[in-house]
Amino acid sequence: MTNALSIKNLSKTYDTGLTALNGVDLDIRRGEILALLGPNGAGKTTLISIVCGLVNPSTGTVAVEGHDIIQDYRKARALIGLVPQELHTETFETVWDTVSYSRGLFGKKPAPQLVEQILKDLSLFEKKDSKIMALSGGMKRRVMIAKALAHEPRILFLDEPTAGVDVELRKDMWRLVKRLRDTGVTIILTTHYIEEAEEIADRVGVINRGRLLLVEDKAELMRKLGQKQLVLELQKPLEQLPEALSDYALELSDGGTRITYHYDTQATRTGIASLLAALAGAGVTVKDLDTEQRSLEDIFVSLVVEESQ
Ligand SMILES: Nc1ncnc2c1ncn2[C@@H]1O[C@H](COP(=O)(O)OP(=O)(O)OP(=O)(O)O)[C@@H](O)[C@H]1O
Ligand SMILES: [Mg+2]
Repeated sequence: MTNALSIKNLSKTYDTGLTALNGVDLDIRRGEILALLGPNGAGKTTLISIVCGLVNPSTGTVAVEGHDIIQDYRKARALIGLVPQELHTETFETVWDTVSYSRGLFGKKPAPQLVEQILKDLSLFEKKDSKIMALSGGMKRRVMIAKALAHEPRILFLDEPTAGVDVELRKDMWRLVKRLRDTGVTIILTTHYIEEAEEIADRVGVINRGRLLLVEDKAELMRKLGQKQLVLELQKPLEQLPEALSDYALELSDGGTRITYHYDTQATRTGIASLLAALAGAGVTVKDLDTEQRSLEDIFVSLVVEESQ
């Protein structure tokens, strides 16, 4: 089966001489949710804009379900829905007309029932006769999503969809995204909210300075890089760590009352069971303990920091 999206050696240098994308290769399977993470200016919007035909690439190719975005532009574009990062919605048109018109742009027959369903899914149906300019910012964003869905795209790009939206919309949106995925729609979203990527994505890509640093199954990424931290509170303060514990990279702090241990959940020899046994053997009594999973955020920050050093 062809991939939903196949990106090969994609680069973009803008007229200013700035290279916003640098040799990106990325294959996206049908029906997956991919979250693209990256700091401001990383190249996320540039990547999406090229795929959607809004920006010309400097090198490389992109195929949307096998259709080249340049040679076969109309077919490729019709398969894509885009919710852009910037809103351009100051119009006198009503919500209903705007969304219906979007569908027509792709040569699709009118489908009032579908438009109604989309508006209901986004809690916009009550506003269907309102003019766009009379809506709040969050509602305008809902309209942008409705517009992007109106022609029943197979691939949906959401560029920072939750920037500046309230908790309700965020929940509505994720519910909708998951439902779309269940119908086979492929979803690519960018976000600065790492918890969101962690919650919703099947795979996570990290992009920085135009380079795709990694693309990994979310669960695999968490497992591979996911380390845990164990904090032990001691019954009595220690002046220094006992010799018998030298195998473990431990930190002693808080006047000798606290030991911190970073460990790999996959390792058994240096796992916490063996550490606790070694502590007991060395006569150290533990009062309390706490463990913390390394988050995707830590992983992301360490990757980006490593790269910029
Ligand atoms: N039209 C343009 N002309 C010149 N440079 C541009 C243009 N659009 C973007 N850039 C530059 O390309 C780089 C990547 O920008 P891009 O918008 O792709 O980043 P981003 O990852 O989407 O960032 P953000 O998280 O802030 O949305 C930035 O340095 C930006 O200034
Ligand atoms: Mg952007």
